[in-house]
Amino acid sequence: MSEHVSDRTPVATPSRPATTVVRTVADVRAAADALRAEGSGVALVPTMGALHDGHLELVRRAARDGHAPIVSIFVNPTQFAAGEDLSSYPRREARDVDLAGTAGARAVFAPDVDEVYPEGFATTVSVAGPAEGLEGASRPTHFAGVATVVAKLLLMVRPDRVVFGQKDAQQVAVIRRMMRDLHLDDIEFVVVPTVRERDGLAMSSRNAYLSDTERQVALALSRGLADAADRATAGERDGRTLEDAAMETMRSVAGVEPEYAALVDPDTFQRVPTLVGPATLCVAARVGPARLIDNAVIPIN
Ligand code: PAJ
Repeated sequence: MSEHVSDRTPVATPSRPATTVVRTVADVRAAADALRAEGSGVALVPTMGALHDGHLELVRRAARDGHAPIVSIFVNPTQFAAGEDLSSYPRREARDVDLAGTAGARAVFAPDVDEVYPEGFATTVSVAGPAEGLEGASRPTHFAGVATVVAKLLLMVRPDRVVFGQKDAQQVAVIRRMMRDLHLDDIEFVVVPTVRERDGLAMSSRNAYLSDTERQVALALSRGLADAADRATAGERDGRTLEDAAMETMRSVAGVEPEYAALVDPDTFQRVPTLVGPATLCVAARVGPARLIDNAVIPIN
């Protein structure tokens, strides 16, 4: 149920400038040019909508850093496999535009599928390296879809910086690699820490699929990460032991089907057998109808 706001007149209040909604490449480029003419850099915040405080933190961060945020809202079909939640993915555009504006977005780019993937579209950006394993193994076509749409968004908008969330740690590694490989790395790459609910649950658009009970059960992911982080702080250095600690915590909660816990290098996403430098512990689990992911940077002291 997508709501259309194309006829909306941008609402400006004394406290904040208007948020323009644009749907075409030509219009988003014009919007970016107009913002640059005001003297600030432009920061792109790519999203699939159903915005929550995690997304909004990316927008606030861009604005705080003195950039004019452009938020893209596009439920990208190529990153969903058949049988995944493309058709049921929450679409709340009018609400999203308001929220984005409140967080400081100056423009929202909400293209139709045909604008992004015109008739005859035949080019895919496929990343090896960090896209292999974990999410790439569970969802074999996912990262090609992500890399393709992010490359396209960067080339469509041509921002000065782009902002992503640490919540999707492997996506961060894949896009960083892609931007280096395609010489898009003159665009500054900003990563914002994961925003969590008070009880530790990582905010996610897919949390909307959870019942109240499942939401409690889903805390197993962040608890698993916390238990492993505690073990590392207490001196544990063995990667496998830390992964097992997270798996055990997740398994001990009825209703959680853990898929993996993996200690990886944050750039290459290669497994880290022994904790000697920076490492990220990534977990994935199914809870009711949702497949959830989370991660934590594991401290070394
Ligand atoms: P989406 O899941 O909508 O997320 C958009 C951005 O918000 C991503 O950079 C994601 O990491 C970040 N984000 C989500 N939850 C967060 C949280 N709790 N804390 C901090 N940041 C959070 O990721 C995608 O969309 C798509 O794959 C996209 C990059 C837009 C390409 O289609």
